Amino acid sequence: MHIVHVVGARPNFMKVAPVLHALSKRSNVRQTLVHTGQHYDANMSDVFFQQLGIPAPDINLSVGSGSHARQTSEIMTRFEPVVLEGKPDIVLVYGDVNSTVAAALVCAKLRVPVGHVEAGLRSFDRTMPEEINRLVTDQLADLLFTPSEDGNVNLQREGISPEKIFLVGNVMIDSLVRLLPTIMQHAPAGLPKRYALVTLHRPSNVDDSDALRGILQSLLDVSRDMSVVFPAHPRTRQRIADFGLNADQLRVLDPLPYVEFLAYQRGATVVITDSGGIQEETTYLGVPCLTLRSNTERPVTVSMGTNILVGQDAQKLRSELANILDGNAKKGTVPPLWEGLAGERIANILTGEHVSQTVSPTDRMDNKRKSTSTSTN
Ligand code: UD1
Repeated sequence: MHIVHVVGARPNFMKVAPVLHALSKRSNVRQTLVHTGQHYDANMSDVFFQQLGIPAPDINLSVGSGSHARQTSEIMTRFEPVVLEGKPDIVLVYGDVNSTVAAALVCAKLRVPVGHVEAGLRSFDRTMPEEINRLVTDQLADLLFTPSEDGNVNLQREGISPEKIFLVGNVMIDSLVRLLPTIMQHAPAGLPKRYALVTLHRPSNVDDSDALRGILQSLLDVSRDMSVVFPAHPRTRQRIADFGLNADQLRVLDPLPYVEFLAYQRGATVVITDSGGIQEETTYLGVPCLTLRSNTERPVTVSMGTNILVGQDAQKLRSELANILDGNAKKGTVPPLWEGLAGERIANILTGEHVSQTVSPTDRMDNKRKSTSTSTN
């Protein structure tokens, strides 16, 4: 069985690692790793491959940056010959970035089965580019691997057949669990006992000068109570400079490697973020998380975990911070199946070791291929 994995951006790398590792233990599986090159800086890509133990990509499409249409179409153009030549039995795509939807579209047109890892998440906010990527990818996918029950509910509401949907748990947490002993040896040096860790990169927060100015002002307020550590995404750093804004009171750092960033999260008094994955990691680690968004595609982090949505409401941010500093931080629990075995479950399903279905997914995909070749002959 030939499986092609497609990754491109930083949040993909911790998701592909456990699936690659689990499949490498199965016989009769050949894997090809394709990096689209959506993220190309060493500190946004290479260091993640090293720390997560991911082999160097077999193929790098080197697409680089561009508008959404340009980046997506460039990935499609360069990925199509890879599929035609490699003839994979299935292509796995991860998360919700432009590389995810681009690869899924190529496969759907070539009638090659697609598996979507981290399917079913919905913010119900179509102003987010990632929501469009999620909706389209899930409509095209043949196998949908969900991290939590809400994903299954969303997919079935959208008319996706339940037999294609597999609740496998959270692959991102697999990587965290596996590297936790290393993370624990990397306690951040030179930081005070009490600090806020900040990340910011959503277009709605950083591409609008008023929104970004308001958030930086709130962070300056936070810095009166505790140190604010801010590993800045390249785009965010660029916007701060473009808009002539002041972040001098914050400890602005370059993006951190995976292990170091998790160590900073683990030691933080609070994490303030607009990322998706960090809402999940803080829930797993039991660290308070204030999310600078009015919605989340990961509602389980709010209903069960430590996450609180504060949007762009400076007053709410202040009052939630006060609760945390008063020792009244929200307590959470770890959602079901977030224990480090999601990659193994996906490998079992792909290789037909999953027993609860009468026809295994791989048999169904074979049938799809046969019916396709019949119809095109
Ligand atoms: C992408 C994902 C987002 C994810 C984020 C994590 C999409 C639509 N968005 O957003 O879901 O949360 O990655 O980081 O796919 N840049 C560099 N070096 C790099 C990569 C990017 O400097 O290695 C800069 C470039 O100026 C580029 C900009 O960042 O134009 C945006 O990069 P892009 O991949 O288009 O989107 P992200 O904002 O990173």
